[in-house]
Amino acid sequence: MKIKYIILFLLPLSLLLLSFSLATGETAGSKEAGFIGAETCKDCHEAQYDSYAKSVHFKESIKGPQSQDACETCHGAGAMHVEKGGGRDVDIFTFDLDTDPQAKSARCLACHQRTPGMDLWDMGVHKRNDVSCDSCHDLHVAGRQKPNEPEVCFGCHRDVKIEANKRSHHPILEGKVSCSSCHSPHGSLSKSMVKADDPQQLCFNCHADKRGPAVWEHPPVEENCQSCHAVHGSNHAKLLNERIPQLCQNCHDWSRHPGTPYDNTASYTSRWDCLRCHPAIHGSNSPSGGGMRYVR
Ligand code: HEC
Ligand code: HEC
Ligand code: HEC
Ligand code: HEC
Ligand code: HEC
Ligand code: HEC
Ligand code: HEC
Ligand code: HEC
Ligand code: HEC
Ligand code: HEC
Repeated sequence: MKIKYIILFLLPLSLLLLSFSLATGETAGSKEAGFIGAETCKDCHEAQYDSYAKSVHFKESIKGPQSQDACETCHGAGAMHVEKGGGRDVDIFTFDLDTDPQAKSARCLACHQRTPGMDLWDMGVHKRNDVSCDSCHDLHVAGRQKPNEPEVCFGCHRDVKIEANKRSHHPILEGKVSCSSCHSPHGSLSKSMVKADDPQQLCFNCHADKRGPAVWEHPPVEENCQSCHAVHGSNHAKLLNERIPQLCQNCHDWSRHPGTPYDNTASYTSRWDCLRCHPAIHGSNSPSGGGMRYVR
């Protein structure tokens, strides 16, 4: 009885002592490494402190592997910087343009390695082209740190911006789809980092009705939507690469088109309006012979 009592008393006490020694050990370690805490930084960087305090990184518990202290999780130990009175290029890690992009991303990956999708970061086109996390994410803004699409992407992808402004376009500017509805900006194994096994499968994520199978299939539809459509935008209706009939005539020899009866009676405009007579261009399920020609 007596021994049991003593153990029951000693156990919590020893745990208390253990945690106490761990805590002090940790503080001593941090001091050695030159971590001094956010309150010191606040004295000279009030604007950054305020924006940080409103950000997700302040609100959530950030107990990641490098969670030494608020500012210093990203900017590294600041003791030397402060001792020297601060200043540009004075002993502090920055996310400037001349800092190695992989080193910048490593700061974030210390905690975000396990963020869903991040396992493909190393394989992604962005990493391989020296784009780092801070190229898209603004860390000193209030709220969540998700990038402002599409503006952030347009900053580097001006050709896509031009396409997205054409007469016919996927509703990116209208906010119905965003770049990241179709692309994985963090990386992917697929062509052009699309959010599917390949660009063709991507279309079916949202246009399942075009998947088929149809009784009468139009081969290019099964093979490559992009043989007729420009995905970001086009000056021709319905995102078409070219006007009709030129689009069709890339593959179909006009001279071999049946000549009668409409050849003589129909006007040129209606003859060239291929879709007027072949409306089921993505394939037809009509049981009659007309289906074979996508007439309906
Ligand atoms: C989650 C990472 C992260 C944390 C935490 C963080 N910063 Fe930053 N800081 C950045 C990044 C990235 C930049 C580069 C510019 C940007 O994204 O806004 C930056 C830029 C800066 C700059 C440079 C601004 C300039 O004009 O060049 C200062 C100063 C700064 N931070 C101070 C702080 C202070 C002080 C804290 C803590 C209160 C803090 N940062 C917390 C990531 C962080
Ligand atoms: C005694 C004042 C002072 C303190 C304390 C201080 N800084 Fe600075 N820091 C400065 C000055 C001054 C600059 C130069 C700012 C400028 O030129 O706009 C600077 C610049 C920076 C930069 C940008 C460096 C660059 O090369 O562009 C970062 C990042 C930064 N400080 C982070 C911190 C962090 C994190 C802390 C806390 C650990 C901290 N500072 C504490 C004075 C201070
Ligand atoms: C000390 C660990 C740590 C570091 C370093 C860190 N983060 Fe975070 N970050 C977190 C945690 C924890 C959250 C909140 C939980 C979550 O969404 O994963 C978060 C949230 C985010 C979010 C918002 C997620 C959302 O759903 O709104 C973004 C974006 C982000 N971090 C980007 C970055 C970038 C970019 C860097 C480097 C400049 C960075 N983080 C550095 C731990 C960290
Ligand atoms: C090319 C631009 C780009 C780069 C580079 C980039 N991100 Fe992102 N990130 C985004 C976009 C866009 C989203 C929002 C995606 C969405 O809403 O589905 C996002 C979302 C996130 C989120 C929130 C994830 C979630 O599931 O809610 C985190 C965390 C994050 N990024 C961290 C990082 C880190 C860490 C790096 C660097 C290793 C990085 N990002 C590099 C564009 C980028
Ligand atoms: C509706 C889906 C969709 C949307 C929305 C979308 N993309 Fe694409 N993107 C694609 C497809 C499909 C490809 C071509 C894939 C292939 O065949 O290589 C592509 C290709 C690209 C390419 C590489 C080839 C090129 O055209 O330069 C870049 C860069 C790109 N997209 C950026 C963006 C940006 C930035 C946004 C937002 C402004 C965006 N995309 C929106 C589907 C989309
Ligand atoms: C800091 C510049 C920068 C920003 C910001 C940026 N990208 Fe990129 N992106 C690049 C570079 C560089 C490449 C590689 C060269 C190229 O294909 O243009 C690239 C390539 C791509 C590709 C094509 C991949 C391939 O296989 O060809 C896609 C898709 C893409 N980016 C989408 C996006 C999206 C979506 C965003 C916004 C969330 C974005 N990018 C923001 C610089 C950027
Ligand atoms: C993330 C969902 C999404 C994906 C993926 C997607 N689309 Fe779309 N698409 C839309 C939306 C939304 C519209 C506009 C529908 C509306 O306004 O009624 C649209 C419209 C279209 C239009 C008609 C444009 C017009 O002017 O009426 C075509 C053609 C098209 N998409 C082709 C494609 C092709 C080809 C792919 C694959 C490369 C694709 N889409 C992938 C969402 C998507
Ligand atoms: C042989 C050329 C061709 C191919 C290949 C093609 N399309 Fe089309 N698509 C057209 C034409 C022509 C129109 C315009 C139809 C109209 O105006 O009635 C169109 C219209 C559309 C539309 C808008 C009208 C509607 O029917 O919903 C969508 C969405 C679309 N296509 C998606 C796709 C997808 C997804 C693929 C690949 C699976 C694809 N297209 C392949 C020629 C093609
Ligand atoms: C990328 C090439 C390509 C484009 C563009 C294309 N087609 Fe086709 N089309 C084909 C192929 C391949 C076949 C199958 C031919 C076969 O089976 O002999 C076909 C079959 C047809 C058939 C049935 C002919 C038959 O012999 O069974 C019609 C009708 C047709 N296409 C109309 C059109 C129209 C109208 C357009 C324009 C809106 C168009 N096609 C655009 C490649 C294309
Ligand atoms: C006035 C209606 C009409 C117009 C306009 C029309 N077609 Fe046809 N097309 C037909 C009919 C009907 C058939 C089937 C003839 C048959 O079965 O012998 C046909 C057959 C075809 C075939 C199969 C040819 C073959 O050798 O069997 C192709 C390919 C074709 N059309 C493409 C086109 C293209 C491309 C255009 C636009 C330049 C077009 N058509 C405009 C009515 C039309």
